[in-house]
Amino acid sequence: MTMLLKIEDLHIEISEKEILHGVNLEINKGEVHVLMGRNGSGKSTLSNTLMGHPAYKVSSGSITFDGQVINNLKPNERAKLGLFLGFQYPLSIPGVTVANFLRQANKALRGDSTSPRDFRKLLYEKMDDLEIDHAFATRYINDGFSGGEKKRMEILQMAMLEPKFVILDEPDSGLDIDSLKLVANSINRYKEKNPHVGILLVTHYQRILDYIKPDKVHVFVEGNVVESGGPELALELEKKGYDWLTVREEEKRQLVEDKR
Ligand SMILES: Nc1ncnc2c1ncn2[C@@H]1O[C@H](COP(=O)(O)OP(=O)(O)OP(=O)(O)O)[C@@H](O)[C@H]1O
Ligand SMILES: [Mg+2]
Repeated sequence: MTMLLKIEDLHIEISEKEILHGVNLEINKGEVHVLMGRNGSGKSTLSNTLMGHPAYKVSSGSITFDGQVINNLKPNERAKLGLFLGFQYPLSIPGVTVANFLRQANKALRGDSTSPRDFRKLLYEKMDDLEIDHAFATRYINDGFSGGEKKRMEILQMAMLEPKFVILDEPDSGLDIDSLKLVANSINRYKEKNPHVGILLVTHYQRILDYIKPDKVHVFVEGNVVESGGPELALELEKKGYDWLTVREEEKRQLVEDKR
């Protein structure tokens, strides 16, 4: 097994407030890891940090991707290395069509030189997989798209850009039951085609894990991983919620303070 992403003792600050407090995580090639945790526990902060969002400052620790420390790389440099983030809240880009964006991104990131005709053919194939109408190719990205359409658009971008590591921040939020299956199938297909891809999937609900089988599930409490396990952990959380972990962490903290 080859390590693809290694996060070591990562501390992240936003506007001088620490949000992540020493995260450690290792993901090998070909593995799917799931990140769960309460609202505000820091899941998107980690996702955005991995992609190099400038608002998130690494105050200490390191992120190593494919053998290279990427702490100081810009988002486009990380994308070139093969990182991809599907946003929790995808932004619209009025003026830029889906087809143009994907074609330019493919050229910039991968030096892709397929003819416009072949590119369009590939795009339509991937759109069919996700049951996205071909008319979306000429619409401005996410402009006026429904919540579910935006989420499918993120997955379309993943399929077209062929990243080595995929971070999906709640790809299942706001999806109807059929769309959830489409999105999950598309992720599975991508994984089958690219068996070495690493995936970090952020979700609140066990349901998507009925379709996508994770190797590991991690739980965030207040900016740190406090529990890791197999798929059964997601089922346990579904039943028990997060209180037991929050209480356990509070007790641990109390013990440390008492010892001082
Ligand atoms: N740009 C920012 N400025 C100030 N605070 C921020 C910023 N981004 C995140 N935070 C704070 O960091 C904490 C973690 O937020 P984050 O979005 O990472 O949580 P999350 O686990 O993704 O939650 P959710 O499940 O609701 O998506 C929150 O308290 C949030 O308010
Ligand atoms: Mg979030």
